Amino acid sequence: MCGIVGYIGIQDSKEILLKGLEKLEYRGYDSAGIAVSNNEGVHVFKEKGRIADLRKIVDLDVSANMGIGHTRWATHGAPSQVNAHPHQSESGKLTLVHNGVIENYDMLKREYLQEVTLKSDTDTEVVVQIIELFVNDGLEVEDAFRKTLKLLKGSYALALLDNENDETIYVAKNKSPLLVGLGDGFNVVASDAMAMLQVTNQYVELMDKEIVIVKKDQVTIQTLDGEVVNRDSYTAELDASDIEKGTYPHYMLKEIDEQPAVIRKIVQTYQDEQGSLTIDKDILQAMNDADRIYIIAAGTSYHAGLVGKQFIEKMAKIPVEVHISSEFGYNMPLLSEKPLFIFISQSGETADSRAVLVEIKELGYKALTITNVPGSTLSREADYTLLLHAGPEIAVASTKAYTAQLAVLAILAEVTAKSRGFDSNYDLVQELGIVANAMDVLCGEKEEFEAIAREFLSTTRNCFFIGRGIDFYVGLEGALKLKEISYIQAEGFAGGELKHGTIALIENGTPVVALATQESVNLSIRGNVKEVVARGANPCIISMKGLETEEDRFVIPEVYGLLTPLISVIPLQLISYYAALHRECDVDKPRNLAKSVTVE
Ligand code: F6R
Repeated sequence: MCGIVGYIGIQDSKEILLKGLEKLEYRGYDSAGIAVSNNEGVHVFKEKGRIADLRKIVDLDVSANMGIGHTRWATHGAPSQVNAHPHQSESGKLTLVHNGVIENYDMLKREYLQEVTLKSDTDTEVVVQIIELFVNDGLEVEDAFRKTLKLLKGSYALALLDNENDETIYVAKNKSPLLVGLGDGFNVVASDAMAMLQVTNQYVELMDKEIVIVKKDQVTIQTLDGEVVNRDSYTAELDASDIEKGTYPHYMLKEIDEQPAVIRKIVQTYQDEQGSLTIDKDILQAMNDADRIYIIAAGTSYHAGLVGKQFIEKMAKIPVEVHISSEFGYNMPLLSEKPLFIFISQSGETADSRAVLVEIKELGYKALTITNVPGSTLSREADYTLLLHAGPEIAVASTKAYTAQLAVLAILAEVTAKSRGFDSNYDLVQELGIVANAMDVLCGEKEEFEAIAREFLSTTRNCFFIGRGIDFYVGLEGALKLKEISYIQAEGFAGGELKHGTIALIENGTPVVALATQESVNLSIRGNVKEVVARGANPCIISMKGLETEEDRFVIPEVYGLLTPLISVIPLQLISYYAALHRECDVDKPRNLAKSVTVE
């Protein structure tokens, strides 16, 4: 969480930093700030709230060719102006922005800062005060920075300015993502290439425990012990238009609409010249060597993992367990003899998942990451990567990444199945094509979903989603989507489980969204609907063509049975979107959330 940017060069830095922060708002939006430096010193502007609030207080008359910026998702200290970054040392000489969590900040505070009155409640201020302490002891800023970094436990992406030096940004990284962008006569720093695509598409990745001295015409990467590191830059394959909303009112709606194109792109990318689906042979080998697969993920990606388990078990016949990453570390199941770990993560940066990856690598196991972000931490640190090719997902609520994850998992399962001699009676390329067409149809039914949202959700306090089998997992995702953007309390349940307690919550008018897309459980789920209706519930049945009855509120087009989650989720995404709109919620940036959860 939190995003940082930096610029040093020939242009005025304020607008570049502000625009960069706007692109990073998905990483948190509790407060924001910039510090710009010129020959008069460092000028700090910071404000609680969004970048739009920050813009109002930035003094446009201050001109400076160097600066750093931050957008915050609060961890230590409430969202407030005083806890907003940048933070300054006691004398004002040093100014710091930070993404991450310094785990030993309290201990460091007690050991080093007894004499210093801290202004904020943040772990970050502790860091900048300690650097100043070492400067006061006679060290150069760079050495003081290095000495401080060696004391830190936890995660950080840091950018530091020295009041008396308007030619250098000091940068360091451990566990939090950070890139240096290269330009002609300028250089930049960013948590994500998207932020600085406005000025460059050439980036150098930083590794953990590296420190970088960034000047306008020179970038020097070193280890903490001062060894110089040479690393080639790469071109960020992002189109600036990918990260714009265009004519859409919200990124979420744009990303929902992009889903058919994403599925087509995935199919195309994972096809060989003969048109057969293919995946890297080392990944295939790892799948075939495994006696059990452990899927590790969080949130929406965890929900994709639950569906992925069905794909892999039913198609490739390899047993699969799905685990929430934040639970796995201290609740590790008994592992099989030859496990393979699959990490599913849109961002590739989720700290809870990364902690598991580090742990299982120490145990000597192999890992495959399925992610949307090439070069992300989970991708770099795993043995293998499968990319989602979904394009940047900006709205905090995940939509196209979820369906892309399902498509890639289906392809992985299918190709593995074939290599194990299990022949299917369908052609997955064709079936995914049918899915993409069905998605097009559903995206064209927005008025219908807006009406459903108005009818069922405009005043309710809560809502239940029920389904059986694979529909249950989609219901979990539907409930998460609804609660995170509309703040309606929403829960997903296995149809048969509701009556074991939760049915007590059903009152007159309680909306219950029931998914009925699976022939094998169609009658049972409809039986569960009757049970809640008998207690006053307002049912909204979403069924699939061929299984529909007159009581159904919406019928999705027919697709191959196992693949229904790819399309049954779309009505739920759109209903959630319109429910949030009716309730005047901030659809793309719901309260308390951040897109990339880089703290454990
Ligand atoms: C919900 C959502 C989150 C993420 C979760 C994991 O819409 O986006 O639940 O799915 O934070 O993030 P990734 O997939 O980046 O690991």
